[in-house]
Amino acid sequence: MALLEVKHLKTYFDTLKGQYKAVDDVNFDLEYGEALGLVGESGCGKTTCALSIARLLPKEGKIYGGKILLEGTDMVQLSDDQIREKRWKDVSIVFQGAMNALNPVMKVGDQIAEAIMLHEKIKKEDALRRTERLFELVEMPADRIRNYPHEFSGGMKQRAMIAMALACNPKIIIGDEPTTALDVMVQAQILNLLEKLRRELNMGLILITHDLSILGETCDKIAVMYAGKIVEIGMVEDIFERTAHPYTKRLISCFPNISKDKVIPAGIEGIPQNMLEPQPGCSFYPRCHLATDLCKTEVPTSIEVGKKHFSACHRASEVLNGR
Ligand SMILES: Nc1ncnc2c1ncn2[C@@H]1O[C@H](COP(=O)(O)OP(=O)(O)OP(=O)(O)O)[C@@H](O)[C@H]1O
Ligand SMILES: [Mg+2]
Repeated sequence: MALLEVKHLKTYFDTLKGQYKAVDDVNFDLEYGEALGLVGESGCGKTTCALSIARLLPKEGKIYGGKILLEGTDMVQLSDDQIREKRWKDVSIVFQGAMNALNPVMKVGDQIAEAIMLHEKIKKEDALRRTERLFELVEMPADRIRNYPHEFSGGMKQRAMIAMALACNPKIIIGDEPTTALDVMVQAQILNLLEKLRRELNMGLILITHDLSILGETCDKIAVMYAGKIVEIGMVEDIFERTAHPYTKRLISCFPNISKDKVIPAGIEGIPQNMLEPQPGCSFYPRCHLATDLCKTEVPTSIEVGKKHFSACHRASEVLNGR
């Protein structure tokens, strides 16, 4: 049994302006110890996917359909009480800028110990001892638990937040842009840490980013999202070397290439479709150089283009063959 199976997930936001289909029929699975990268432009539904899995959606957001099977249990069907019980024990999230959530007037170790005590009936001194071990796990000296947040660098604060996320031995850890606010060196260290932890602790890791280039070394597989849907999913080398969706191709071509004169990323022309007024057909159609009349009228279904490699594109085989 897979650790996590997301099947036909539909999460919509009901607003005064209408209904946003932020996640619209998303499918993927995750094994123990496996890392999945979720990538796509701003607004494509990455965070909504994560919040659905952790059942942390704001009140406007609702799961309208599908299943989120965690070790076979459907998270969608659980009551709020059952969810509270499971959250942080089964799934925990490290958010972008999570480090700013630390309370400035409280020692970092005390904050983590209190979080542990919220979930488990243990004494403060035991919780502090656990916190010391968690600090060692995230490669910080144990005695640092007695410091205040202002005595930490940004990277150290984010390590502390990862320690907090690990406190209840989750089966899945989701990093939602966990390194965006950090400089490039520290970003690499934090990604290496997450990569090491998921192997050592045999956890599932879902790493969310809008920067495809950072996923190559950290993840086993990559899901590319566009306008609420996964348009391509596959193992890292398939995504980079046997790309089967025009949108993925464009994301890859956005990497700055220092071997060429031009070091400015190319960017993708056009704007993503308005999720309030979805057009018929493929949502990438208006920005796609390969689009045909069929793409304008018919939503492409996800087809297997290689082993465990899927693309939702009418012209996937041509993209695979280099177009
Ligand atoms: N609370 C909300 N109310 C209404 N609409 C929302 C809400 N949160 C998100 N949305 C809409 O859902 C869509 C997906 O948002 P989401 O935050 O999941 O995107 P994202 O891929 O994480 O983007 P980013 O890279 O900017 O973090 C967007 O179109 C957004 O406007
Ligand atoms: Mg987001």
